[in-house]
Amino acid sequence: MDRMVTVSGQDGAFPVAPGTSVLEAALRANRWLPHACSQGTCGTCKIRVLSGEVDHGAADETILSADERSSGLALACQSKPHGDLAIAPVNDADPGRPMHPLRDYTGTVRELSDIARQTRRLVVELDEPMEFDAGQYAELIVPGSGVARQYSMANPPSEQRLLEFHVRNTAGGLATEGWIFDSLAVGDRIDLRGPLGQFGVVEAREEPAILIGGGTGLAPLKSIVRHALDHDLLPAIHLYHGGRREADLYDVECFRAMEATDSRFHYHPVLSEENWDGATGMVTDAVLGDFASCRGHSGYLCGPPAMVVAAVKALKRRRMSPRLIFKEEFTVNA
Ligand code: FES
Repeated sequence: MDRMVTVSGQDGAFPVAPGTSVLEAALRANRWLPHACSQGTCGTCKIRVLSGEVDHGAADETILSADERSSGLALACQSKPHGDLAIAPVNDADPGRPMHPLRDYTGTVRELSDIARQTRRLVVELDEPMEFDAGQYAELIVPGSGVARQYSMANPPSEQRLLEFHVRNTAGGLATEGWIFDSLAVGDRIDLRGPLGQFGVVEAREEPAILIGGGTGLAPLKSIVRHALDHDLLPAIHLYHGGRREADLYDVECFRAMEATDSRFHYHPVLSEENWDGATGMVTDAVLGDFASCRGHSGYLCGPPAMVVAAVKALKRRRMSPRLIFKEEFTVNA
């Protein structure tokens, strides 16, 4: 039997089917709740349970402490209601944010190509278009297991039928070595759901942006760059892409061509373990070297957690306002 959930400050209630999390049900019902990872690892979706009870599921003690549980806090992405609920988001619910309801999709693989060391581009043509914001992600369902793996769309939201994903291989990974780098082929059918996440650029902003990506953390940044340039959302964009070796970089020609034709866009590939004719060192050190001050700029960060932490530190050191630093920490998709 469905449970009904009301959100403080929002009209009406939405149903939560058995086995479904509060977050998934809210997004499917076109109700915005703050969230990022949807895996119980970031804490962005923390809610206060005003009435009713939830099963906390796999919520981790480091993200939701025992004290927080006993004081009525829960993770919306992990919580399953025991009965009807009244909740209030702990983080800013951003009521003005445009909403694209979470839905299930099917599609056909149109491209699967090696683009960098242990990295593939996967392009899926959806049967039905998906509306999303630049920077959001989808969950690909691994056939036969029902397990979902998260990948950001690298294409702009104007391309609603042809979704582009960048996938890094992980040794022994169920979705990567066991599927996308093994049996998956052009023409195969794929199940997925989306969109999810709140990382990205949805409206015009006055400040120039510094985008820093590590590895396949480039994917949402590519979507943001293309969308922001197409719609003149940012006055200037500096894209930094860090890799260990030149073989880790990809879409270099694409970004160089964009840089050559659009004076608002600046592309900075950086290698940490190989000398070449471009910038070397840690990608965050390259930003520190290029900018004496980041005051008045915004930052968009996506990559391994250590890179994101270092980038936040570097941008704050250069006096970027913390409220203008937006980050998507990806977990390794096995
Ligand atoms: Fe729920 Fe990250 S912990 S969205």
